[in-house]
Amino acid sequence: MNGKRKFRLGILGSGKGSNMVALADACVSGRIPCEIALVLSDVAEAGILARARERGIPARFIHPGGFRTKLDEASERAYCAALREAGVDLVVLAGLMRILKEEMLRAFPRRIINLHPALLPAFPGLEAWKQALEYGVKITGCTVHFVDQGIDTGPIIAQQAVPVWDDDTPETLHARIQQAEWELYPAAVAALAEGRIRAEGRRTTGWAGDSKKGKP
Ligand code: GAR
Repeated sequence: MNGKRKFRLGILGSGKGSNMVALADACVSGRIPCEIALVLSDVAEAGILARARERGIPARFIHPGGFRTKLDEASERAYCAALREAGVDLVVLAGLMRILKEEMLRAFPRRIINLHPALLPAFPGLEAWKQALEYGVKITGCTVHFVDQGIDTGPIIAQQAVPVWDDDTPETLHARIQQAEWELYPAAVAALAEGRIRAEGRRTTGWAGDSKKGKP
């Protein structure tokens, strides 16, 4: 192992934590030049906290305050302080079911990313796989994007398409999207850690390289 400092991730989630596990496995196997410095959740009994602790990753519940869809001001300050103290280079949202506000966006400019279970800008918001199925699209997928003030509106970094089959249920479709997420998220985080992603306005460049996307 060389002595190079690893890129430090702070992961925020409310759910079972399968994407945190995919990132943790990629860190441990050396597939991505990163380490998970801290996992935070707004849900005390969330699987993401238990699965982090099983792996020896520092993991904390921080109370979200009284709102349902965002953190209250004191709570958002506490999240920022914990991430700063942990020396986090990139804030990685993995199933966080709350919107982040100014405090966090100012503390980590262009250093917060989110994973969304659809091909944005289609189907922003909750249960995007259900929205896609009900709409009747034949292809959906997942998107990694920078977080801005809007809901799932920030500049897109990477996307992966996933087919919708005739006999899909919301559960089977979400499971297929999650398989794609476990590949896409670690790859996108590695691209950011290695400084390959450049952002100019809404457009980012550097994901996978044009040759891999079939450009002659
Ligand atoms: C993932 O499918 C992610 O795309 C979705 O939550 C799931 C978390 O799963 N995120 C959103 O819907 C954000 N609006 P996990 O806890 O197993 O990683």
